[in-house]
Amino acid sequence: CAHPSATPESAVSQYACQRRTTLDNHNKIFTDALEVLAENLEFCGNLGQSLAFRRAASVLKSLPAALRHLQETQRLPCLGEHSRAIIEEIFECGSSSRVEEILNDERYRTMKLFSSVFGVGPKTSENWFFRGLRTFEQVLSEPSIRLNRMQTAGFLFYEDISNPVSRTEANALKILVEEAVICVNPSATVSITGGFSRGKEFGHDVDFIIKTPEAGQEDVILPAVIERFKSQVQKRLFQQKVLSEDCLNILLYSDFQESTFDLRQLPTHCFEAMDHFSKCFLIIKLKREQETDARAGRDWRAVRVDLVAPPLERFAYALLGWTGSTLFGRDLRRFARLERGKLLDNHALYDKATNTFLPANTEEDIFAHLGLEYIEPWQRNA
Ligand code: CTP
Ligand code: MN
Ligand code: MN
Ligand code: MN
Repeated sequence: CAHPSATPESAVSQYACQRRTTLDNHNKIFTDALEVLAENLEFCGNLGQSLAFRRAASVLKSLPAALRHLQETQRLPCLGEHSRAIIEEIFECGSSSRVEEILNDERYRTMKLFSSVFGVGPKTSENWFFRGLRTFEQVLSEPSIRLNRMQTAGFLFYEDISNPVSRTEANALKILVEEAVICVNPSATVSITGGFSRGKEFGHDVDFIIKTPEAGQEDVILPAVIERFKSQVQKRLFQQKVLSEDCLNILLYSDFQESTFDLRQLPTHCFEAMDHFSKCFLIIKLKREQETDARAGRDWRAVRVDLVAPPLERFAYALLGWTGSTLFGRDLRRFARLERGKLLDNHALYDKATNTFLPANTEEDIFAHLGLEYIEPWQRNA
C-alpha cells in the first residue's frame, strides 16, 4: 500500500474509509482465497503480511463489479505481487493451489478448530497444537490443561455459539436487553452495533451499545443489568417452585470488565488494544421461536452477546469503533494519523497540531473532523 494518497476522482483509495463497501461482494472467489492466506499468516504470527492480504481482499470487496482480467488489478492499490499471483491462478485454474494446500494443512485446520472456541485465541491454539493435540476430545481429556472460565463456557456451549445468530434472533435479544436496561435506568437507550448495524443477516454474536444521558451512569449500568438478569431468574425460580436451573437461568456466562477510561488519555497507537469502556461479554439463553430442538430436549439456544457503555461525551467514538468493520476502523485510524496528523481510537480524536480533543455528538461529526465524506454503516463492510 505505498500508493500516493492524492488519488484522481475515479481511482480507488488505499484507505477503506474512503471507499464504500457494501455486503454485495462481486469478487468473493478472490477475497475468500486471499482471506484464507491472511488467516493462515495470522496463525503463524506473521501479522504484517496477513494485513497485506486483508487489505488486498478489502479493495476487491469495494469494486462495483467482478474482475475480468488480471490487468485490472494494475490500477488498484494494495494489490501486491503475491495477491496478484493468487488472482492469476484463480483466473487460469478456478482455484489457487496455495490456498488448497493451506485448507488441507494440519496446522491450519487445527488452529482454525481450536480458535473457534470462545476464549481460545491463537496463542492457546498454537500451544495445544504443538503439544500434539488435534481434537476437542484430546484437549478435554488432557489432564495438564486447565481451562479458564471463558474457555469452559466456550466448550460447554460450543454447538450453539458456533451456529450463526440470525437478524431475527438479534432483534429478539434487543428486546430482552432493552427491557433490562430500561428497568435499571429509564433514560438509557440500547442500539445494535457491530455486524448487524452494517446490514449483515448473520453474526457470530450480537453487539449492543448503551447510551446513558446522566454522567457517571455508564459505570453502574452494566453491573445493574447483569444483576437484573440474575434476579429475574431467582424471582421465577421462586414463583414456579423450582424448575431445573437449566430451564430458568437466562445468563449462562458473564464477564464484566470495569471501565478504566480516563478523559485525559490520548488515543492509543496500538490498534489491537481493547478499549477502556465499561463492557461485558455474555452468553445468554434465547428462547427459540418455532421448532424446538427435539433431540436436545430444550426450547432455547445459547448466544454470545457483547454490551458496551461509554460516557455520553464519547458515545460517537465508541459507536464508530464498535460498528466496524475491523479493517474499516483500522484504516480510519491510519488515515487520521498519516493524512491528518490526528490520533483516533474508540475513545477520542486528538489533534496533534492544536493539542486538543475534538468533540463529536455523532459519527458524522467525526468524519467531518477528518475531512472525509460520510460513509454509512452498511457501506463499512471493508
Ligand atoms: N470491537 C472493539 N473493541 C472490543 C470489541 C470489539 O473495538 N473490545 C470492535 C471490533 O473492532 C469490530 C466491532 O467492535 O469492529 C464488532 O466486533 P465483532 O463482534 O467481533 O465483529 P462484527 O463485525 O460484529 O462481526 P460478527 O458478525 O462476526 O460478530
Ligand atoms: Mn453491486
Ligand atoms: Mn459482532
Ligand atoms: Mn462482538
